[in-house]
Parts: sequence; C-alpha cells; structure tokens
Amino acid sequence: MTNPVSMLVISRDAVLVGELDASRQPRDGLSVQAELGSLSQLNGQAIRMATGKDLIVVQTDGRDPEELAAIRTLTGAVSETAEVVALADGSASLSDVLALNQAGIGRVLPVPASAEELLDELDRLGPARRQRRLTLKPVETHRGQIIATVPARGGIGGTTLSVNLAERLAAPRGRGKNATRARVALIDLDLQFGSVGSMLDLAESDAIARLASEGTEPDDTLLRQSMLDHDSGLRVLPAPVTFVPPDALRAEQVAAMLDSLRADYDYIVIDLPHTVVGWMEPVVARADALLLLMDTAVPSVRQARRLIDLLSADRLTVPVKVIVNRERKPLFGSATRREAEKALERKVWAWLPPDPKHARAAIDQGRPLHAVGGALASAVGKMAALLQSELAAAAASERT
Ligand SMILES: Nc1ncnc2c1ncn2[C@@H]1O[C@H](COP(=O)(O)OP(=O)(O)O)[C@@H](O)[C@H]1O
Ligand SMILES: [Mg+2]
Repeated sequence: MTNPVSMLVISRDAVLVGELDASRQPRDGLSVQAELGSLSQLNGQAIRMATGKDLIVVQTDGRDPEELAAIRTLTGAVSETAEVVALADGSASLSDVLALNQAGIGRVLPVPASAEELLDELDRLGPARRQRRLTLKPVETHRGQIIATVPARGGIGGTTLSVNLAERLAAPRGRGKNATRARVALIDLDLQFGSVGSMLDLAESDAIARLASEGTEPDDTLLRQSMLDHDSGLRVLPAPVTFVPPDALRAEQVAAMLDSLRADYDYIVIDLPHTVVGWMEPVVARADALLLLMDTAVPSVRQARRLIDLLSADRLTVPVKVIVNRERKPLFGSATRREAEKALERKVWAWLPPDPKHARAAIDQGRPLHAVGGALASAVGKMAALLQSELAAAAASERT
C-alpha cells in the first residue's frame, strides 16, 4: 500500500478473516484488524473498533434494512478522512449498490477470493481514494439540481421539453448589472435517437460515444472539455451521432458524470430515451425532478403508470411531476383528465398546449422556442419558473 494505513475488516467469511488475522501486518506499514461477523451483529462494538482506522472494509449487501442502518451509523461515526468500503457478493444489483452508497459507503467491491486479492484491490483503491477526497469539497459546498425528462413514448415531445426548459432556466434573471444567470447543463442521454444537438444547431460530438467505447468514468476535466457552448449560455453534451446500443453506458459512468456536473452547475437537465435501461438508475436516484411526459390517450397513460411504478421501486418518494403535452388544460370536470389522474394516482402538474407551427419553426431554424415565440414557448417559460421555485423550496427544506 502506498500509505501506511490502519484497517478494519468485518466479514462473514471465516477463511478471509483467518488469513488476515494470521498476518497482522501483511504489508509494509499496514496494520489490519479482522473481525468475523456482520456489522449489525457487532453493532456498537464495530464503531469502537473503527475509531482511529482510516479504512474500514465491511462485507455486506444493501438489502437488509438492519445492515443499512448499521452502516449509516458507522459512516456517520467514523472520521471524515476515513473511508468505508463494502464487499458485496456477485448477486448484488445496482439498487443494492445504490443503497450502500446512500448509506455513506464510498466504494463497493466484489467479495475477494483471498486476503491477498483484497489487499491488491485496496492497493488499487489508494490513489482513487485520495482523488475522491479532493473532488469531494465542491460537491459539498455546491449541489446542482438534476431534472430529467422521462417520455412515456417516442415522439411525445421529450426533447422539445428538455431543450426549451433548459434554455429558460439559463435565461438571465433581473435587469442590467443585477442580472444573474443560472449555470445550466443539458445532457442528451437518448443515446440512439438524441436530437438535442440538432434542435440547438450545435456541432457534432463524439464524447459520449467515446465514453461508451472506452468504458471509463468521466471526470470534471473531460466533461469541461466535451461540453459545447450554446448562445443562450447553456452548456450541452450531445448524444452520439454514430450508432451505439441503448445500454452502451454503465450506471457507474452516468453516476460519475452527474456527480461531477452537480459540482459545476445549478441545474442539470437530462434528456432520457423512452426505453428503460439500467444506467438510468443513478439518474433516478439523484433526480430532484423527474418530468414524466405523456398525453391522455389510454396507451400513454398506461405506460406512464408503469413508469411511475418502476421509478418508485427504488426510492421511497420519487419527485415525479406529470406533464401532459399537446393538450390544453381541460376543465376539472373532464372525464379524460379525471381518469388519467386516477390511474396515475397523482395530479397532472403541467399542461403544454399544441403548437405545431412554432414547434416546427423552432426545429427548422435550430433555435429554442423562446426565439420564435408562440403559446408553447410561453407555457414552457411559465413551467420553468414554477419548477425553479419548487426546486428552490425543496432545497431549502432539505437544508433545515
Ligand atoms: N406541444 C407541441 N405541439 C406541437 N408539436 C409538438 C409539441 N411538442 C413537441 N412537438 C413536436 O413533436 C415532435 C416530436 O418531438 P420531440 O421533442 O422530438 O419528441 P421526443 O423527444 O419525445 O421523441 C417534434 O416535431 C416536435 O416539434
Ligand atoms: Mg427525443
């Protein structure tokens, strides 16, 4: 190991614990304490053992609520410079990993075959750990809000919404010297049919295609270099122009991307495809608003319902806001509206009117709706203002 480290390992694997125990100082400058059992079994004892250690390795999965509670207690109790690593078995799912992350675990590693393998793996972790600590600061002091558009079907207007909402969020507020601007990133994650770039008349970019083929996790520098500037002040990461499969990204890559963006921007708007893929998990987990876009036709309502169930599976409260596109807000008495809201078990948050003339003009000119005007543009503008105030209120209540 590069730095002298004191380490605590808690594992249910008697062989692993035995091997580690047999060599109390298995490598230069590394002292190891190994305990047999699980975190929730050891409970308060574990925290005492963890005190003063700078690396705590716990074999656990994110499925047992008791274990998760014990992990939260542990990660809350150890010093800020200490890292807690989890060892999860091969059957751990993305949502298990996510639960572990949310409980304060920095890294999840597969259960190693031997003590040797574990130490090798932790050796590799060394530099990443230091790097993480360096980048942690801005994340703590600034956390941008993530808004994702989830279309219930193709062609419903998801990209139109993402692009124009992002453009409105980036518009200057106030006048003259006092004008302020939010920093807004627009990310096109509709890997196959992404059209954000063409709607804003931007150059092509192979950044996402490269990420997909290289499999690496994007860092701040890469993202800064890859994002394109739009006249509106928006910074945009377009979808690939070459073919990539819909599941070309890994959840970890998307998670790293979002975490990095959150430190640099006030709002991160994500345009999602209408098919559900695994890497959406970190988007859903981090989203401050999920804009579910639909119409009130029966198949669309059904799909919206399915999506709400899916999005809610991993989170107790999902910030879903239902938006109906291409329909004017009907009267309360409207049967279609009542039925839709009943099926969704929630109210429609916003209605966007049909406005084919301006929708078309904006696409043809490669400009945002605001630049061409019309009813849709003004509805999106109002919606952006409403969203902004609701997100500000949510952030404020989170702080208190
Ligand atoms: N409210 C609207 N009124 C009229 N046309 C719209 C409206 N919203 C979107 N459109 C048009 O519908 C088409 C599909 O929109 P798009 O945003 O690409 O959908 P998606 O990203 O969900 O596939 C585009 O031609 C767009 O201009
Ligand atoms: Mg689209």
